[in-house]
Amino acid sequence: MTRVSTANIRGKKLKNEKISMLTAYDYSLAAMVDEAGIDMILVGDSLGMVSLGYENTLSVTMEDMIHHTKAVVRGTKHAMVVGDMPFMSYHVSIKEAVRNAGRFIQEGGAQAVKLEGGQERIATVKAILDAQIPVVAHIGLTPQSVNQFGGFKVQGKDLETAQKLIRDAKLLEEAGVFSIVLEGVPTQLAKRITEEVSVPTIGIGAGHYCDGQVLVINDMLGMFKGHIPKFVKKFTNLEPLIMAALKDYKSEVEAGTFPGEEHGFTINDDVLEKLY
Ligand code: KIV
Repeated sequence: MTRVSTANIRGKKLKNEKISMLTAYDYSLAAMVDEAGIDMILVGDSLGMVSLGYENTLSVTMEDMIHHTKAVVRGTKHAMVVGDMPFMSYHVSIKEAVRNAGRFIQEGGAQAVKLEGGQERIATVKAILDAQIPVVAHIGLTPQSVNQFGGFKVQGKDLETAQKLIRDAKLLEEAGVFSIVLEGVPTQLAKRITEEVSVPTIGIGAGHYCDGQVLVINDMLGMFKGHIPKFVKKFTNLEPLIMAALKDYKSEVEAGTFPGEEHGFTINDDVLEKLY
């Protein structure tokens, strides 16, 4: 089975076909996402919040990301795997950014990287592309800018920031990214950006006009107990099912009803007799 390529993703916009993307952070869930035929898997730095229990994504390191990217890649055959460049892995110098992007490909086994930012990241994006590494851009409510934004706030609601987002998207398209994640921007602005650029837009909290959608997997499966943003649809609610199973397990262990005979292994009687 061949993997989804950047050409496939670009082709979907031309054919007016929607692109599906989900995050995954481990082997088991990545294998299910892959089997479901999702086009792209983002090993998102949201890992910091949903898997590592941090308050935001800022503490996630390159080592965390490479470790989880390897696990996701091992679980997949079809989806394109995109490694999310963590905070400070592409901010200090362009050289360091290219080296870190290269680690996602060489050590992690990903097919592309994603990084946050518009105009201020164009030189970095170009250098990574020069190293033959496909780039997904990410603009709007970029979580690594949480301190600068003063919280997780929808972006592009006033004329100045809306115009900046349109400009950023065009600059990123010119630089050569093969898709742009639009996070937390008004639906009509996301529509305008989607119409203005030839590369696919992938929305999260950006409405239905985007060329594709991405969600954090723990949110859409209903297995994250933290804050769930308004734009998330829970496609199922696993948390109560998991809690019920955990409580049943505890009760059965305490009552001695688990494990049953059928869960055990046997030993020949002659060996057993010699043990006594
Ligand atoms: O880290 C992440 O999960 C992301 C998505 C929200 C796009 O960047």
